[in-house]
Amino acid sequence: MKIFLFSLMCLFSSVAFAQEILTPVISVNTRNNTLLFKVDDKSKLRQCYYGEKLPEASFKGVQTTAADAYPAFGTSYVHEAALRAVHADGNTSTELIYDSHSVKNISDNIEQTVITLKDAYFPFQVKLFFNAYKNENVIEQWAEISHQEKKPVTLYNFASSHLFVSEPTYYLTQFYGNWAEEMNMAEMQLTRGQKVLQSKLGVRADQYDHPCFLLSLDAPAQENSGSVIGGTLAWPGSWNLTFDVDNLNNLHIISGANPYASQYILKPNTNFKTPALLYTFSEEGTGNISRNFHRWAKKYGIYRGDRTRTTLLNNWEATYFDFNEEVLSGIIKDASEMGFELFLLDDGWFGEKYPRNSDTAGLGDWMVNKKKLPNGIGYLVNESHNKGIKFGIWLEPEMVNPKSELYEKHPDWVIGQKNRPLDLSRNQLILDLSNPKVQDYVYSVVDNTMSENPGIAYIKWDCNRFVTNSGSYYLPASEQSHLWIEYVRGLFNVLDRVRAKYKDVSLMLCSGGGGRIDYATLPYFDEFWISDNTDALDRIFIQWGTTYFFPSMALASHVSVVPNHITGRTTPLKFRFDVAMSAKLGMDLQPKDMTPEEKEFSKNAIREYYGIREIVQFGDLYRLLSPYTNKRTAMMYVSEDKDNAVVFSYLLKKSINGNTQPLILKGLDPKKNYKLTEVNKMPGSYSWFTPLEGKVYTGEFLMKYGLRFTMYNEYDSKVIRLTVQK
Ligand code: GLA
Repeated sequence: MKIFLFSLMCLFSSVAFAQEILTPVISVNTRNNTLLFKVDDKSKLRQCYYGEKLPEASFKGVQTTAADAYPAFGTSYVHEAALRAVHADGNTSTELIYDSHSVKNISDNIEQTVITLKDAYFPFQVKLFFNAYKNENVIEQWAEISHQEKKPVTLYNFASSHLFVSEPTYYLTQFYGNWAEEMNMAEMQLTRGQKVLQSKLGVRADQYDHPCFLLSLDAPAQENSGSVIGGTLAWPGSWNLTFDVDNLNNLHIISGANPYASQYILKPNTNFKTPALLYTFSEEGTGNISRNFHRWAKKYGIYRGDRTRTTLLNNWEATYFDFNEEVLSGIIKDASEMGFELFLLDDGWFGEKYPRNSDTAGLGDWMVNKKKLPNGIGYLVNESHNKGIKFGIWLEPEMVNPKSELYEKHPDWVIGQKNRPLDLSRNQLILDLSNPKVQDYVYSVVDNTMSENPGIAYIKWDCNRFVTNSGSYYLPASEQSHLWIEYVRGLFNVLDRVRAKYKDVSLMLCSGGGGRIDYATLPYFDEFWISDNTDALDRIFIQWGTTYFFPSMALASHVSVVPNHITGRTTPLKFRFDVAMSAKLGMDLQPKDMTPEEKEFSKNAIREYYGIREIVQFGDLYRLLSPYTNKRTAMMYVSEDKDNAVVFSYLLKKSINGNTQPLILKGLDPKKNYKLTEVNKMPGSYSWFTPLEGKVYTGEFLMKYGLRFTMYNEYDSKVIRLTVQK
């Protein structure tokens, strides 16, 4: 009897064991978050949970869902497919079943999980990749699609990820804009059906919308409380983020390169790798989402994120195309005297047959314009070095004016359609980077400029238009729709080569302002230009939106002339500096046009910036008062050891009776004592902060009672430094 009972128990336990093998639980874990998958009894991989960390012992209690981890057209039940493939024999359906998974450590901090799904019939597979960045609570997810069918398979949909959420309500914040008004924010409650955010622009793809989102669960997003998911797609081409609330009020988020007019013919035994979606979850509001992304970016998402960024003076708004050697030498001298670390020469320095004296000609002809610069770029590099500063240069190597020697030689190197008129934007065309010869040429633009002019320390890499007439003279007729993908691959080939040879040069990512900001491109770049709009008031909003995902250390922010060239608005010099100093400080004006007092003020402001630069560039960002809901706005940075902080506050509108909104500080050590000092004071003017100058308060007091001082005047601004007292 005993033996019988024992064998019965063995039988049960081996059934249970077999069941577990058949239905594994796969968890992707960061320090505070868990993403959970289960394989159901039909071998389908279901996403079951994403949120606060769950203990492993509780995984058993998590129920399976109807949400396919990677829904495939033809056999999945959700409304939107992640994958739609037409197989070699014409079958339009794919049935993905769980095959295997593996987990490995890429480093102490990064754990990679790979889940392999296979079609039930065809030799066709999808691998789902998850890199879990433990300390930063960021997950990077992408898919790789391949097959061994006899003939090519056509991919019509090829998403990076399908994230499934089941909550009572969903509040989506989207980020949108246009040239000179980037990164605006709007929040809406998602109701049944789809909300699609996308770009079909191919190049300069983020001009109208940014592939970033915040999704607040239960209630509208708050800075310091509430469950929020933040996501951003790492891809500089066309993209799509579909938010689909289904009949059971579940939310499906499908992300990826935009499949619109982009079907891809996948040959046997080739790997199709999608872009990655980076996402993070916070149960303490949107503030944590940003800090997670920033910490992640400084380690993994931008080039040399551990290096201090240099200040610079750029001549674009100072001169536009109208300069010569003497004018530039004067600016270099002034830049150095004011204390800048680099001079950046912008557009207009090149073109022989068709000199680049406006945006109508010369783009593509990267030989120096000897009329403007008789002694070449080398002379300006030396001038800069003699004055103790570095030299940087503007390039737009992916583009060409039809009025150029390059276009005359290679009219078939541009993106365009046969038998259609050229469709110009800013008088220019895009070079077809799907063509390896064009890739070589674009690389040679950088390589020649660098090797012919030793000593260039910095390149501003611009890209001023998006794709229309989306044809390639290089790709075969059957693969014209590959252009969207192949362009991006071509761009990365070039950037790989540039970085392999030029490791020490700093690169600024620019695209008519912020038309190309993403975490697939930023790993090649030290910093980015978020907007051509340098009006300090507008910049407060643009930078506010941008820093939800991208760190201030890489966000170039320039003081420019008033009235502002784009908005016509006049703001005080101190306000313009105080806004630029909250990110990576630079200047975009002709110093000769400044009064001696303005120059003196600027000199001092730049010196003061060096005193807070490490806190701004490496500290944690805390948003205190949003410009969207307050007339006074404020944010602060706190150093990692919580010994130093700097608070920025701006008054957006005149307050006749005084704005007394307290600034309830965040991120300090409650037990530490902090001394308050005003930075970048306006000499001779009374500051309502003065009574607090030099006072010492505990972190607890500053985080409960706050920092209280009145502000009256429109565009009044204050920068307050907190220094720990030991
Ligand atoms: C773009 C950039 C500007 C400037 C011009 C030059 O618009 O965003 O900063 O470099 O090109 O043509």
